[in-house]
Amino acid sequence: MIIQEDFSLKQLNTLGVDAKAKHFIELEDENDLLEYLDSKEAPKRNPMILGGGSNVLFTKNYDGTILRYPAKGIKIIEENSSYVFVESSAGELWDDLVTFCIEKNFYGIENLSLIPGEVGAAPIQNIGAYGVELKDVFDNLEGYFLDTKEKRKFSKTDCRFGYRDSIFKKELKNKFLITKVVLRLSKEKKFNLSYKALQEQLGDINPDKLTIYEVAATVREIRESKLPDPKKIGNAGSFFKNPEIGSTQLAQIQKKYPDITFYKTGDDSFKIPAGWLIEKCGYKGKRIGNIGCYEKQALVIVNYGNAGGEEIRAFAEKIRNAVNYGFNIKLDYEVSII
Ligand code: FAD
Ligand code: EPU
Repeated sequence: MIIQEDFSLKQLNTLGVDAKAKHFIELEDENDLLEYLDSKEAPKRNPMILGGGSNVLFTKNYDGTILRYPAKGIKIIEENSSYVFVESSAGELWDDLVTFCIEKNFYGIENLSLIPGEVGAAPIQNIGAYGVELKDVFDNLEGYFLDTKEKRKFSKTDCRFGYRDSIFKKELKNKFLITKVVLRLSKEKKFNLSYKALQEQLGDINPDKLTIYEVAATVREIRESKLPDPKKIGNAGSFFKNPEIGSTQLAQIQKKYPDITFYKTGDDSFKIPAGWLIEKCGYKGKRIGNIGCYEKQALVIVNYGNAGGEEIRAFAEKIRNAVNYGFNIKLDYEVSII
């Protein structure tokens, strides 16, 4: 167990905000975690679990304990001729798990290539990209309640996955530390090529001749063409969620903008791209000091220099107000604001 006080989190959040944690504890493995949970003062110290910091915005120093669980390990725990169950420790990089599966021709997470962060965080917002969400391949996860030390397994139903959502983002936020995730992947070749941008990038390739490497490489290409690399420019991916609206509101928007893209999510609900709304409000590529709205993808807020967390939040609020004013739509944050 590594314990540090007044620890800088600048290298541990991809927006590159220079916030400090009052206490910072890195737990090597489950024994370390249990030892920490045994210490009486542990739950009183306002714990927050941090993975790779690619979906958080620190607006101030953290007056509590930041817990990291970087334990690694990937293994196949069960397989038959059709399926394989792969277990990964929470501290593995998500993209390393994707690479492991691609190399073995285990189908299901190739569309989720190149998403930053760790495996333990993937269930928190049910990560998704290019037509696939974690829930499509998820089998179960394991972890510990921080207050009672109880070990618990969660099935897919228990996790209450939704679009960028789960039970761990709601009532169990910072109450349950995920230590392991098990995925159920297919050994039979099947791809999800439903996402338009993916189809366009693949062009005329015969789907029967496609390999898992080609699908993953194509997803990587698309991502690299529009999303900033956090190692070069601070960002946390999409800052807001794509909103859902009803048919009446959609029709009103279509009158002015017949080109708006949308897809049906329910009887009278349609998801529309927040990036499109932000672009139409004139924010795409806009920069104020060290903070900007990325020029290739308006849903991404970037830190060009040493912007503080409060400044970034104020910029994000400006965008929300503009979209609310222009379209009467309130955008929800995807990023967790601390
Ligand atoms: P963190 O940011 O550290 O934490 C996120 C949340 O998870 C926090 O609430 C934290 O408390 C909690 N948490 C972390 N680890 C654990 C654990 N072991 N147990 C319990 N709680 C935990 N997301 C997508 O869904 N799709 C994308 O396509 C996508 N693209 C991105 C592109 C870029 C360039 C960037 C920077 C981000 C992108 N994201 C995307 C967002 C981000 O990568 C994911 O949300 C990722 O799962 C966050 O992982 P992390 O380890 O960095 O988590
Ligand atoms: N669009 C614009 N202007 C922009 C950005 C997008 O008009 O500046 C339009 C595009 O033209 C396209 C549509 O919006 O018609 C969708 O764009 P894109 O395919 O880039 O996807 P997105 O909806 O903006 C979502 C996720 C991403 C994920 C991609 C691919 C959310 C909040 N974001 O973005 O996830 O990688 O789809 O599936 O759902 C993340 O969560 O951090 C993230 C990057």
